[in-house]
Amino acid sequence: MKRVGILGGTFNPIHNAHLNIAMAAYEQYHLDEVWFMPAGMPPHKAVSANISAIHRKEMVLAAIAPYPMFHLCDVEIEKKKPCYTYKTLKKLQERYGVFTHFYFIIGGDSFFSFDEWVKPEEICQYADILVARRPQEQEETTAAFQEKMTEHQKRYGDHFFEIMVKQMDISSTEVRTALENSLDVSGLIPDNVLSYIKTNHLYDKVFSSEELYQMELKLKKALKTSRYQHTIGVMHTAANLAFCHEYPFTKAMVAGLLHDCAKCLSDEERIHICKKHQIPISKVEKKAPHLLHGKVGAYLAKKEYGIHDSEILHAISVHTTGCKEMSLLDKIIFVADYIEPGRDKAPRLAEIRKVAFEDIDACVLMILEDTIQYVSKHQDEMDDTTIETYTYYKKLIKERG
Ligand SMILES: [Fe+2]
Ligand SMILES: [Fe+2]
Repeated sequence: MKRVGILGGTFNPIHNAHLNIAMAAYEQYHLDEVWFMPAGMPPHKAVSANISAIHRKEMVLAAIAPYPMFHLCDVEIEKKKPCYTYKTLKKLQERYGVFTHFYFIIGGDSFFSFDEWVKPEEICQYADILVARRPQEQEETTAAFQEKMTEHQKRYGDHFFEIMVKQMDISSTEVRTALENSLDVSGLIPDNVLSYIKTNHLYDKVFSSEELYQMELKLKKALKTSRYQHTIGVMHTAANLAFCHEYPFTKAMVAGLLHDCAKCLSDEERIHICKKHQIPISKVEKKAPHLLHGKVGAYLAKKEYGIHDSEILHAISVHTTGCKEMSLLDKIIFVADYIEPGRDKAPRLAEIRKVAFEDIDACVLMILEDTIQYVSKHQDEMDDTTIETYTYYKKLIKERG
């Protein structure tokens, strides 16, 4: 008889505690396999609307990939209607029951509220129940747990067993909050899950219209009217580019809105901030401190406007020169700054505006070409980074063909 543990959950996202629980069940009950069963639409909680079943499934697959004894069970995830555990287990029992003994894994809270589940007695017919508990939880609540255990056994039979899990103090809510605030989540989720989340922009912070409005008000007071109007133009252009290139648009709007927030400072003030906060100043920036408004802007966005998202701060920081391997947001802000509706002097503007929505890398290169030409013609200070960025994108576009 094959011994299979089933770990259900929304997995929004899957995290290390899920893996620890599965591993503890696998080791302590000599299971052959553990099946991770993401919920489609759980009866008791709403799944965050922007995280589709496909993403939750892919994250589970990424997390369990290194463990040959862990598998995905997708019987619930595609369902549009609520799935009750007794129905799912009945189906699994009918399909695999002849050769399989199921162990359904639950947490302490579910153990205590087990009577409130739909048809709990049927659940116990189809599977034994493994209750995941922390060692300290075992000491603190032994009496209550034992009492409940006796009660459950009297009511449902001898189907409940404990699993001791050392590390299970992680919640998906905690992971989501950390991700929204660009905090470090290493140790909370596997690296390949994090990389999937980053690639697909899951759990990125969505700024509310009220948050954007408050930033706009503050910025309006800080900037000259013409600069503020340019800023609003960049914000809207960035939102459009974000839609077109599938990037979270409120993040693009915030980066656009704040990209020139350090323009309100004098050269002396910018240099002073750089020196005070160990922001490096290049030779060219020393000669032309207005070039520092990107780097100092990132500092102000964090300090004065409460932005902690590293992608937004980076896009603000590099918006004047660009850099090698720009992120999509870096490119959106770099381009939006050049093509916003208030701009009318640059040559090829109509063509560049069109390319911006078709091929953003090619657009970055066109802007760099024209910028370098303009700076050379006017004998202005040219930042080395602009040349580096130009060389990088010229090569990239050439190799791409
Ligand atoms: Fe700027
Ligand atoms: Fe600008």
